[in-house]
Amino acid sequence: MKRITKAVFPAAGMGTRFLPATKASPKEMLPIVDKPLIQYAAEEAVAAGITDLIFIIGRTKRAIADHFDKAYELEMELEMRGKKRALEELRAMLPLNVHYIFIRQAEALGLGHAVLCAEPAVNEEPFAVILADDLIDAQPGVTRQMCDLYDYYQSSVVGVQKVAREETRAYGIVATDPMTDRLHRVTRIVEKPRPEEAPSTLGVVGRYVLTPRIFHHLRQVGRGAGGELQLTDAIQSLLAEQQVLAYEFDGVRYDCGSKAGYIKATVEYALKHPEVGAEVRRYLTERFCPGPAAD
Ligand code: UTP
Repeated sequence: MKRITKAVFPAAGMGTRFLPATKASPKEMLPIVDKPLIQYAAEEAVAAGITDLIFIIGRTKRAIADHFDKAYELEMELEMRGKKRALEELRAMLPLNVHYIFIRQAEALGLGHAVLCAEPAVNEEPFAVILADDLIDAQPGVTRQMCDLYDYYQSSVVGVQKVAREETRAYGIVATDPMTDRLHRVTRIVEKPRPEEAPSTLGVVGRYVLTPRIFHHLRQVGRGAGGELQLTDAIQSLLAEQQVLAYEFDGVRYDCGSKAGYIKATVEYALKHPEVGAEVRRYLTERFCPGPAAD
Protein backbone atom coordinates (compact mmCIF):
# COMPACT_ATOMS: atom_id res chain seq x y z
CA MET A 1 0.00 0.00 0.00
CA LYS A 2 1.39 3.39 -1.01
CA ARG A 3 1.49 6.27 1.48
CA ILE A 4 0.46 9.68 0.23
CA THR A 5 3.57 11.62 -0.76
CA LYS A 6 2.12 14.46 -2.84
CA ALA A 7 0.23 17.60 -1.88
CA VAL A 8 -1.24 20.26 -4.14
CA PHE A 9 -1.44 23.88 -2.95
CA PRO A 10 -3.76 25.92 -5.14
CA ALA A 11 -2.56 29.51 -4.82
CA ALA A 12 -3.62 31.10 -8.08
CA GLY A 13 -6.91 32.66 -6.97
CA MET A 14 -7.66 36.35 -7.49
CA GLY A 15 -7.73 37.13 -3.77
CA THR A 16 -10.21 39.94 -4.41
CA ARG A 17 -11.27 40.14 -0.76
CA PHE A 18 -7.76 41.22 0.19
CA LEU A 19 -7.09 43.83 -2.48
CA PRO A 20 -4.94 45.90 -2.63
CA ALA A 21 -2.70 43.64 -0.45
CA THR A 22 -3.05 40.92 -3.10
CA LYS A 23 -2.34 43.12 -6.10
CA ALA A 24 1.28 42.05 -6.53
CA SER A 25 1.50 39.14 -4.07
CA PRO A 26 -0.83 36.17 -3.60
CA LYS A 27 -3.07 35.97 -0.55
CA GLU A 28 -1.18 32.80 0.45
CA MET A 29 1.88 34.99 1.14
CA LEU A 30 0.07 37.05 3.79
CA PRO A 31 1.93 36.46 7.07
CA ILE A 32 0.41 35.28 10.32
CA VAL A 33 2.88 36.90 12.73
CA ASP A 34 6.15 36.01 10.95
CA LYS A 35 5.30 33.18 8.56
CA PRO A 36 3.27 33.32 5.35
CA LEU A 37 0.13 31.19 5.18
CA ILE A 38 1.67 29.02 2.46
CA GLN A 39 4.51 28.06 4.79
CA TYR A 40 2.13 26.90 7.53
CA ALA A 41 0.45 24.78 4.84
CA ALA A 42 3.76 23.36 3.57
CA GLU A 43 4.83 22.49 7.12
CA GLU A 44 1.51 20.73 7.72
CA ALA A 45 2.12 18.62 4.61
CA VAL A 46 5.71 17.78 5.52
CA ALA A 47 4.57 16.77 9.03
CA ALA A 48 2.19 14.31 7.34
CA GLY A 49 5.11 12.64 5.55
CA ILE A 50 4.51 14.38 2.21
CA THR A 51 7.63 14.97 0.14
CA ASP A 52 6.36 16.44 -3.16
CA LEU A 53 4.86 19.91 -2.72
CA ILE A 54 3.05 21.04 -5.87
CA PHE A 55 2.16 24.73 -5.94
CA ILE A 56 -0.37 26.07 -8.42
CA ILE A 57 0.61 29.64 -8.98
CA GLY A 58 -0.94 32.42 -11.02
CA ARG A 59 -0.63 36.05 -11.91
CA THR A 60 1.58 36.88 -8.93
CA LYS A 61 3.71 33.80 -9.50
CA ARG A 62 7.14 34.97 -8.35
CA ALA A 63 6.53 35.44 -4.62
CA ILE A 64 5.74 31.81 -3.73
CA ALA A 65 8.51 30.33 -5.87
CA ASP A 66 11.01 32.79 -4.40
CA HIS A 67 9.84 32.02 -0.88
CA PHE A 68 10.70 28.32 -1.25
CA ASP A 69 13.92 28.94 -3.18
CA LYS A 70 17.32 28.94 -1.51
CA ALA A 71 18.26 32.57 -0.82
CA TYR A 72 22.07 32.47 -1.19
CA GLU A 73 22.59 36.24 -1.00
CA LEU A 74 20.36 36.63 2.06
CA GLU A 75 22.14 33.73 3.81
CA MET A 76 25.55 35.28 3.11
CA GLU A 77 24.39 38.63 4.39
CA LEU A 78 23.02 37.10 7.61
CA GLU A 79 26.26 35.15 8.09
CA MET A 80 28.36 38.29 7.65
CA ARG A 81 26.24 40.17 10.17
CA GLY A 82 26.45 37.32 12.69
CA LYS A 83 22.65 36.79 12.70
CA LYS A 84 22.96 33.11 13.55
CA ARG A 85 19.42 32.42 14.73
CA ALA A 86 17.78 33.99 11.71
CA LEU A 87 20.15 32.03 9.47
CA GLU A 88 19.39 28.72 11.18
CA GLU A 89 15.66 29.33 10.94
CA LEU A 90 15.94 30.18 7.26
CA ARG A 91 17.94 27.00 6.53
CA ALA A 92 15.63 24.76 8.58
CA MET A 93 12.70 25.95 6.47
CA LEU A 94 13.66 23.75 3.53
CA PRO A 95 13.99 20.06 4.49
CA LEU A 96 16.40 18.31 2.13
CA ASN A 97 14.09 15.43 1.23
CA VAL A 98 11.30 17.71 -0.02
CA HIS A 99 10.73 18.57 -3.70
CA TYR A 100 9.06 21.82 -4.74
CA ILE A 101 7.14 21.84 -7.99
CA PHE A 102 5.55 24.97 -9.46
CA ILE A 103 2.79 24.84 -12.04
CA ARG A 104 1.25 27.86 -13.70
CA GLN A 105 -2.52 28.30 -13.87
CA ALA A 106 -2.65 30.92 -16.59
CA GLU A 107 -6.21 32.00 -15.83
CA ALA A 108 -8.12 31.76 -12.54
CA LEU A 109 -10.82 29.40 -13.82
CA GLY A 110 -11.66 27.96 -10.41
CA LEU A 111 -10.36 25.63 -7.71
CA GLY A 112 -11.27 22.56 -9.80
CA HIS A 113 -9.24 23.89 -12.69
CA ALA A 114 -6.30 24.64 -10.38
CA VAL A 115 -6.34 21.02 -9.13
CA LEU A 116 -6.57 19.74 -12.72
CA CYS A 117 -3.43 21.75 -13.54
CA ALA A 118 -1.58 19.50 -11.04
CA GLU A 119 -2.36 16.28 -12.92
CA PRO A 120 1.00 15.96 -14.75
CA ALA A 121 2.84 16.16 -11.40
CA VAL A 122 0.43 13.95 -9.45
CA ASN A 123 -0.02 11.20 -12.01
CA GLU A 124 -1.90 8.07 -10.95
CA GLU A 125 -1.49 8.56 -7.20
CA PRO A 126 -3.73 9.62 -4.36
CA PHE A 127 -2.84 13.12 -3.17
CA ALA A 128 -3.71 15.81 -0.65
CA VAL A 129 -5.05 19.27 -1.48
CA ILE A 130 -4.37 22.03 1.01
CA LEU A 131 -5.87 25.51 0.75
CA ALA A 132 -3.42 27.65 2.64
CA ASP A 133 -5.98 30.35 3.36
CA ASP A 134 -7.77 27.88 5.64
CA LEU A 135 -5.29 27.86 8.50
CA ILE A 136 -5.99 24.99 10.89
CA ASP A 137 -4.38 24.82 14.29
CA ALA A 138 -4.29 21.10 15.12
CA GLN A 139 -2.03 18.54 16.72
CA PRO A 140 -1.38 16.32 14.79
CA GLY A 141 -2.03 18.45 11.70
CA VAL A 142 -5.26 17.87 9.81
CA THR A 143 -3.42 16.59 6.72
CA ARG A 144 -1.81 13.89 8.87
CA GLN A 145 -5.22 12.99 10.36
CA MET A 146 -6.73 12.71 6.88
CA CYS A 147 -3.81 10.77 5.34
CA ASP A 148 -4.19 8.25 8.18
CA LEU A 149 -7.87 7.89 7.29
CA TYR A 150 -6.96 7.40 3.63
CA ASP A 151 -4.50 4.67 4.63
CA TYR A 152 -7.25 2.85 6.50
CA TYR A 153 -10.25 3.31 4.19
CA GLN A 154 -8.48 3.76 0.84
CA SER A 155 -11.03 6.35 -0.22
CA SER A 156 -11.14 10.08 -0.78
CA VAL A 157 -11.70 12.22 2.33
CA VAL A 158 -12.90 15.83 2.57
CA GLY A 159 -12.35 17.91 5.69
CA VAL A 160 -15.63 19.31 7.04
CA GLN A 161 -16.80 21.57 9.82
CA LYS A 162 -20.24 22.58 11.12
CA VAL A 163 -21.08 26.04 9.79
CA ALA A 164 -23.95 28.40 10.58
CA ARG A 165 -26.94 27.76 8.30
CA GLU A 166 -26.88 31.35 7.04
CA GLU A 167 -23.29 30.74 5.84
CA THR A 168 -23.88 27.69 3.62
CA ARG A 169 -23.61 29.94 0.56
CA ALA A 170 -19.87 30.24 1.22
CA TYR A 171 -19.13 26.48 1.28
CA GLY A 172 -19.45 23.15 -0.44
CA ILE A 173 -22.06 21.39 1.72
CA VAL A 174 -22.31 17.60 2.15
CA ALA A 175 -25.24 15.28 2.76
CA THR A 176 -24.00 12.22 4.63
CA ASP A 177 -24.75 8.87 6.24
CA PRO A 178 -23.18 8.41 9.68
CA MET A 179 -20.18 6.07 10.12
CA THR A 180 -18.38 6.93 13.35
CA ASP A 181 -18.32 9.90 15.68
CA ARG A 182 -16.38 12.23 13.37
CA LEU A 183 -16.58 10.31 10.10
CA HIS A 184 -19.46 10.32 7.63
CA ARG A 185 -20.10 8.77 4.24
CA VAL A 186 -20.87 11.47 1.67
CA THR A 187 -24.07 10.85 -0.30
CA ARG A 188 -24.18 14.25 -2.03
CA ILE A 189 -22.14 17.43 -2.20
CA VAL A 190 -23.33 20.81 -3.46
CA GLU A 191 -21.39 24.02 -4.00
CA LYS A 192 -22.61 27.15 -2.24
CA PRO A 193 -26.28 26.19 -1.68
CA ARG A 194 -28.77 28.73 -0.35
CA PRO A 195 -29.44 28.14 3.38
CA GLU A 196 -32.96 26.82 2.72
CA GLU A 197 -31.62 24.35 0.13
CA ALA A 198 -28.51 23.14 1.95
CA PRO A 199 -28.69 19.38 2.66
CA SER A 200 -26.90 19.88 6.01
CA THR A 201 -24.67 22.39 7.77
CA LEU A 202 -21.47 20.37 7.27
CA GLY A 203 -19.25 22.60 5.15
CA VAL A 204 -16.12 21.50 3.31
CA VAL A 205 -13.06 23.49 4.33
CA GLY A 206 -9.69 23.56 2.61
CA ARG A 207 -8.41 20.02 3.16
CA TYR A 208 -8.92 17.07 0.81
CA VAL A 209 -7.35 13.71 0.15
CA LEU A 210 -8.35 12.55 -3.31
CA THR A 211 -7.89 9.51 -5.49
CA PRO A 212 -6.43 10.27 -8.94
CA ARG A 213 -9.79 9.36 -10.46
CA ILE A 214 -10.84 12.92 -9.59
CA PHE A 215 -8.95 14.16 -12.67
CA HIS A 216 -11.26 12.19 -14.95
CA HIS A 217 -14.27 13.82 -13.31
CA LEU A 218 -12.71 17.28 -13.40
CA ARG A 219 -12.45 16.86 -17.16
CA GLN A 220 -16.09 15.73 -17.42
CA VAL A 221 -17.89 18.40 -15.40
CA GLY A 222 -18.48 21.79 -16.97
CA ARG A 223 -18.28 25.15 -15.30
CA GLY A 224 -20.41 25.42 -12.19
CA ALA A 225 -21.18 28.06 -9.55
CA GLY A 226 -19.70 31.46 -10.42
CA GLY A 227 -18.78 30.21 -13.91
CA GLU A 228 -15.77 28.39 -12.41
CA LEU A 229 -14.67 24.76 -12.67
CA GLN A 230 -15.63 23.54 -9.21
CA LEU A 231 -13.81 20.77 -7.33
CA THR A 232 -17.11 20.17 -5.50
CA ASP A 233 -18.86 19.23 -8.77
CA ALA A 234 -16.09 16.76 -9.65
CA ILE A 235 -16.40 15.16 -6.19
CA GLN A 236 -20.17 14.83 -6.70
CA SER A 237 -19.45 13.10 -10.02
CA LEU A 238 -16.79 10.86 -8.37
CA LEU A 239 -19.42 9.68 -5.87
CA ALA A 240 -21.09 7.68 -8.64
CA GLU A 241 -18.15 5.28 -8.69
CA GLN A 242 -16.16 5.69 -5.47
CA GLN A 243 -16.85 6.19 -1.79
CA VAL A 244 -15.99 9.64 -0.41
CA LEU A 245 -15.75 10.29 3.34
CA ALA A 246 -16.38 13.54 5.22
CA TYR A 247 -14.20 14.00 8.27
CA GLU A 248 -14.99 16.45 11.08
CA PHE A 249 -11.38 17.13 11.89
CA ASP A 250 -9.95 17.81 15.30
CA GLY A 251 -8.57 21.37 15.22
CA VAL A 252 -9.41 25.07 15.12
CA ARG A 253 -9.83 26.57 11.67
CA TYR A 254 -9.34 30.20 10.76
CA ASP A 255 -10.77 31.43 7.46
CA CYS A 256 -7.83 33.59 6.45
CA GLY A 257 -9.44 34.31 3.09
CA SER A 258 -11.67 36.74 4.99
CA LYS A 259 -10.35 39.82 6.78
CA ALA A 260 -11.98 39.01 10.13
CA GLY A 261 -10.74 35.39 10.05
CA TYR A 262 -7.25 36.56 9.17
CA ILE A 263 -7.20 39.02 12.07
CA LYS A 264 -8.48 36.38 14.54
CA ALA A 265 -5.71 34.00 13.43
CA THR A 266 -3.14 36.75 13.81
CA VAL A 267 -4.27 37.48 17.38
CA GLU A 268 -4.35 33.79 18.41
CA TYR A 269 -0.96 32.96 16.86
CA ALA A 270 0.58 36.14 18.28
CA LEU A 271 -0.61 35.18 21.78
CA LYS A 272 1.15 31.80 21.40
CA HIS A 273 4.31 33.19 19.85
CA PRO A 274 7.39 32.69 22.07
CA GLU A 275 8.88 36.07 21.18
CA VAL A 276 5.88 38.41 21.29
CA GLY A 277 3.15 36.42 23.09
CA ALA A 278 3.61 37.97 26.53
CA GLU A 279 3.74 41.52 25.18
CA VAL A 280 0.65 41.05 23.01
CA ARG A 281 -1.28 39.56 25.94
CA ARG A 282 -0.30 42.53 28.12
CA TYR A 283 -1.34 44.98 25.44
CA LEU A 284 -4.73 43.33 24.86
CA THR A 285 -5.41 43.10 28.59
CA GLU A 286 -4.55 46.76 29.19
CA ARG A 287 -6.50 47.86 26.15
CA PHE A 288 -9.67 45.81 26.62
CA CYS A 289 -9.79 44.62 30.25
CA PRO A 290 -8.15 47.40 32.22
CA GLY A 291 -8.18 46.85 35.97
CA PRO A 292 -9.65 49.45 38.33
CA ALA A 293 -7.76 52.72 37.89
CA ALA A 294 -5.19 53.34 40.63
CA ASP A 295 -5.74 56.49 42.67
P1 UTP B 1 -11.19 31.37 -3.15
O1 UTP B 1 -12.53 30.85 -3.39
O2 UTP B 1 -10.86 31.80 -1.77
O3 UTP B 1 -10.92 32.54 -4.20
O4 UTP B 1 -10.17 30.24 -3.59
P2 UTP B 1 -9.78 33.60 -4.28
O5 UTP B 1 -9.81 34.09 -5.67
O6 UTP B 1 -8.45 33.09 -3.83
O7 UTP B 1 -10.19 34.76 -3.25
P3 UTP B 1 -11.36 35.86 -3.32
O8 UTP B 1 -12.63 35.12 -3.08
O9 UTP B 1 -11.29 36.51 -4.68
O10 UTP B 1 -11.00 36.82 -2.23
C1 UTP B 1 -9.93 29.09 -2.78
C2 UTP B 1 -8.53 28.59 -3.05
O11 UTP B 1 -8.39 28.16 -4.39
C3 UTP B 1 -7.33 28.84 -5.04
C4 UTP B 1 -7.11 30.10 -4.22
O12 UTP B 1 -5.78 30.57 -4.36
C5 UTP B 1 -7.45 29.65 -2.82
O13 UTP B 1 -6.37 28.96 -2.21
N1 UTP B 1 -7.74 29.11 -6.45
C6 UTP B 1 -8.98 29.57 -6.71
C7 UTP B 1 -6.86 28.84 -7.47
O14 UTP B 1 -5.70 28.41 -7.24
N2 UTP B 1 -7.26 29.07 -8.75
C8 UTP B 1 -8.49 29.54 -9.06
O15 UTP B 1 -8.79 29.71 -10.25
C9 UTP B 1 -9.38 29.80 -8.00
